[in-house]
Amino acid sequence: MIKTRSGVEIKEPVGKLGVLLPGLSGAVATTFIVGTILVRRGLALPIGSLTQMGRIRLGKRTERRFPKIKDFVPLAEVSDLVFGGWDIFPDSVYEGALKAGVLSKDHIELARDEVSDIKPMPAVFDREYVKKLDGPNVKKAKSKYELAEMLREDIRNFKKEKGCDRLVMIWCGSTEKYIKEDKVHQTLEDFEKALRNNHPLISPSMIYAYASLCEGVPFANGSPNLSVDIPALVELAKEKNVPIAGKDFKTGQTLMKTVIAPMLKARVLGLRGWFSVNILGNRDGEVLDDPESFRTKEVSKLGVLEYILQPELYPELYGEYYHKVRINFYPPRGDDKEAWDNIDIFGWLGYPMQIKINFLCKDSILAAPIVLDLALFLDLAQRSGMRGIQEWLSFYFKSPMHAPTIYPEHDLFIQLMKLKNRLRHLMGEELITHLGLEYYD
Ligand SMILES: NC(=O)c1ccc[n+]([C@@H]2O[C@H](COP(=O)([O-])OP(=O)(O)OC[C@H]3O[C@@H](n4cnc5c(N)ncnc54)[C@H](O)[C@@H]3O)[C@@H](O)[C@H]2O)c1
Repeated sequence: MIKTRSGVEIKEPVGKLGVLLPGLSGAVATTFIVGTILVRRGLALPIGSLTQMGRIRLGKRTERRFPKIKDFVPLAEVSDLVFGGWDIFPDSVYEGALKAGVLSKDHIELARDEVSDIKPMPAVFDREYVKKLDGPNVKKAKSKYELAEMLREDIRNFKKEKGCDRLVMIWCGSTEKYIKEDKVHQTLEDFEKALRNNHPLISPSMIYAYASLCEGVPFANGSPNLSVDIPALVELAKEKNVPIAGKDFKTGQTLMKTVIAPMLKARVLGLRGWFSVNILGNRDGEVLDDPESFRTKEVSKLGVLEYILQPELYPELYGEYYHKVRINFYPPRGDDKEAWDNIDIFGWLGYPMQIKINFLCKDSILAAPIVLDLALFLDLAQRSGMRGIQEWLSFYFKSPMHAPTIYPEHDLFIQLMKLKNRLRHLMGEELITHLGLEYYD
């Protein structure tokens, strides 16, 4: 046990940490796994990973203390990670990475010996929730409850076979159709009844989340569909003392939005319209080509501006802006997404101005380090006795989970401050308010 200056006891990260990924053969999961292996072999740098390359300021500015985050809090080492998961396709991580086409073949070959053997367990899947996909590697059972039991058995077996000390699960599966929160999602009792009755409002991602929490395994949701954020599963997480986080990895266009919009608000500049267009050609793009899956993504992407700009408080500036998000499936691009934003703003005396953004990003290259950070931070949270919603991990999500009494915090830099202050608080370091009066006394 490590006893921090704040009196919190943190279990030491000894032994292996298993990272379980539904969506194991997909672009994000394979880019994360191959990348992490290259990093631990010293063949590449973990760029984009706050836990690996980020630093944190401690104490006063005059003290000049800026340790790396991984040297400040007791995180598992990348060398202790073991990978596994489920997919509806039987492709190993090696085959999945080749098909995803994110990393170069040369890079993938450097990890081939290890990733060829990482093969997905049969998935819990139903086309009803992802219309554009179908695959053969799928579990069969009479009820959703039985499917959850099968996943729980997979989790226990994986832990035993791989000799893991601890596990975390991160949903990297496809975006499921839009489901509105309903009565069956409210209490654990209702949810379990619905699992047994095969209720149509219980999606596969909820079944994974349920199985994960029942096994005491922290869960994060990387896609925008309703999953671990329903009240029944938040209740289960608290009951089982398990940390949870979500949802929808903040990469690409929304990452830009949560930087630009706070700037407009900070300078009290007005907004007339924000038109966002994306083209992408990977499997994620194909899934989002279905209106029901797109609806889930759209809700996640649209909410961001509303919360950041607070039109109810600034009606003259943000009362009437037009916000549109389009995602177009365009196969020739593969994972090389291109996003355009046209932003019509207005300034002093109402004079119009425009901002144009053309972001040519690689989606999975931005998402992979998020998966690594979430795995390590969720494991830290678990070892530190944190349970339920981890709002300090909002930094990583487009639709951050939050307590029902408050609104989510979307501003990237407030999210970063929150994350770092949570770490300082955990370790008993002074929180940083940026007041700075002491330098002028
Ligand atoms: N790439 C990004 O930057 C990014 C950003 C935000 C969110 N996301 C989300 O992350 C998820 C993964 O993205 P991706 O680009 O890797 O997509 P992908 O299509 O390459 O991979 C998803 C994988 O999930 C599998 N899958 C689908 N349903 C499953 C189930 N029920 N159980 C197990 N496996 C299942 C698919 O077969 C596929 O291999 C998507 O939901 C996407 O919206 C990605």
